[in-house]
Amino acid sequence: MAQLFPKRANAVPRLLLTGLGLFLVALVAVIWYYFSPWYTDVGYAPVQPVPYSHKQHVGDIGMDCRYCHTGVEKSATAMVPPTQTCMNCHTLVKPSSKKLAALKQSWDTRMPMGWVRVHKLPDYAYFDHSAHLRAGVGCESCHGTVSEMDVVTQRQPLSMGWCLECHRNPEAHLRPQSAITAMRWKAPPEQAAFAARVIKELNLRPPTNCSGCHR
Ligand code: HEC
Ligand code: HEC
Ligand code: HEC
Ligand code: HEC
Ligand code: HEC
Repeated sequence: MAQLFPKRANAVPRLLLTGLGLFLVALVAVIWYYFSPWYTDVGYAPVQPVPYSHKQHVGDIGMDCRYCHTGVEKSATAMVPPTQTCMNCHTLVKPSSKKLAALKQSWDTRMPMGWVRVHKLPDYAYFDHSAHLRAGVGCESCHGTVSEMDVVTQRQPLSMGWCLECHRNPEAHLRPQSAITAMRWKAPPEQAAFAARVIKELNLRPPTNCSGCHR
């Protein structure tokens, strides 16, 4: 039988395949870079010196965020609690647990625990917790459902676009003061009217100009 194609045409499909392969690798690399947690920091969950669980203390025991994060309504920073706060209970609760060894050492030596920071903005961006809580923005809008986390994980990108998205349309995120630390909160049907009233009463004006966040 006569050959329809010259022999060297055998190389064409192979070349096409290699080219397609390289293209796919490049595409995956680009998507990986721009959308992966590594780029946005979403999913960042460092290992802590003590396996402290929010799920256990907030979800099961029912503690309020503000028992430990005492700065959150008064200052720019929420503050991670000092060892003393934990020892209010743990001098009595499971004092000899292995999981609490580093905590006990911190208590005995009076050295701070050295918790690893999870959420961190660059220094040139200004953020203030108290302003957001006064407006009625819940922890959950920015930190996710912390009461279900054994290990705190960053859930939002904390990028400039993310801040601005809410600053332009904060309505869906405004809660009554009684619900700012509530988890699995759902906006009621009258949310739009409630938000409009709060924005007017508190004269809320989330900044969208550069100097609002870059001071
Ligand atoms: C018993 C004390 C305690 C309570 C109650 C508590 N936390 Fe924490 N929280 C900690 C400690 C300790 C850390 C640091 C270790 C870690 O990241 O797990 C922390 C870390 C965090 C972080 C990460 C901080 C960072 O470095 O970026 C967030 C966000 C947070 N807590 C939110 C909450 C929210 C929201 C609530 C209420 C739903 C809450 N916490 C209740 C003790 C507490
Ligand atoms: C209001 C009291 C209270 C406070 C304050 C408190 N805890 Fe706890 N913690 C508990 C209770 C109750 C348990 C569950 C004990 C059990 O399993 O019987 C627990 C369990 C733990 C465990 C697991 C221990 C084990 O062996 O299973 C760790 C780790 C822990 N807490 C760390 C901390 C840290 C760190 C802080 C401070 C940021 C803290 N706790 C603050 C009450 C508290
Ligand atoms: C509008 C978004 C927003 C809300 C609402 C919010 N946070 Fe944060 N939180 C952030 C950002 C952004 C950072 C990083 C701040 C920085 O690096 O300067 C942060 C950092 C933290 C930290 C670690 C650093 C610090 O400030 O001490 C803790 C703890 C924390 N938040 C707890 C809470 C708790 C508890 C609540 C609710 C009572 C809450 N946050 C509500 C956005 C928010
Ligand atoms: C879920 C909604 C939401 C997100 C996300 C959010 N904000 Fe806001 N922010 C608000 C609201 C609402 C106000 C209005 C407060 C007022 O006018 O009293 C505000 C006010 C502010 C202010 C002015 C308060 C002051 O002290 O002058 C700054 C600065 C600010 N936000 C920075 C940020 C930054 C930076 C981010 C992102 C890391 C961010 N915000 C993310 C809702 C949000
Ligand atoms: C609502 C708060 C907010 C406003 C308003 C805002 N920024 Fe930002 N900006 C941020 C935050 C937060 C970051 C850090 C983002 C990150 O770490 O990914 C940032 C980062 C930047 C960066 C660093 C590069 C980058 O994209 O990460 C530049 C440049 C910048 N902003 C310029 C501006 C200019 C110009 C304006 C006015 C048109 C502006 N910003 C308004 C919050 C804001």
